[in-house]
Amino acid sequence: METLRLRPWSDDDLPLLRAANTAEMTAHLNGPESEQQVLDRHRRYLGLDPAEARMFVVLDATSTAVGAIGYWTVSWREEPAFETGWFVVPEAQGRGIASRALALLIDDARAHPAGLRHLVAFPGVENAASNGVCRRAGFELVGSSSGEFRGSELHSHEWALDLHPVRTASA
Ligand SMILES: CC(C)(COP(=O)(O)OP(=O)(O)OC[C@H]1O[C@@H](n2cnc3c(N)ncnc32)[C@H](O)[C@@H]1OP(=O)(O)O)[C@@H](O)C(=O)NCCC(=O)NCCS
Repeated sequence: METLRLRPWSDDDLPLLRAANTAEMTAHLNGPESEQQVLDRHRRYLGLDPAEARMFVVLDATSTAVGAIGYWTVSWREEPAFETGWFVVPEAQGRGIASRALALLIDDARAHPAGLRHLVAFPGVENAASNGVCRRAGFELVGSSSGEFRGSELHSHEWALDLHPVRTASA
């Protein structure tokens, strides 16, 4: 199985965001963003405070950028938690890359000094691939909700992973 690596977002990674901003790639995200929104997103990723949020490029065995994955702090069920999100470019999909990138991200979130208990994800209910990624990584489906996302309504599943189950059980 090919080895993947995560590396922090860099100034050279704008083309990857553009590759993820097509109609196909955003079909379950209420459609593409404007060029300005993509530029703002790139700048936001570059300026993240690692104490609160981290965004990574997913590199394959040849160090080609095949996707992105990250996490950021949110309030979830009245507690701080990490939310995660991801994409894999079309030519690299269907090879387990998102699942393995998420496993690497879980290790990073688990080691984060904030020590937050839950990692959560909210894929659209019709996003079969993304819901598959959550299931495969051991997240639990704990609900669903509707809300505004990029200016339109989105009905999402609510997945949660306990990052520190042993610590919790013995606490
Ligand atoms: C979601 C996405 C990242 C999946 O990437 P990927 O590398 O192809 O996913 P994986 O190969 O790791 O597949 C993970 C699981 O989902 C399943 N899956 C993948 N594509 C699927 C599809 N189209 N329909 C149903 N299940 C699918 C796989 O079978 C696998 O489950 P399994 O291990 O039980 O067989 C990719 O489709 C994508 O970037 N989509 C556009 C952006 C997006 O929607 N991002 C998520 C926003 S929440």
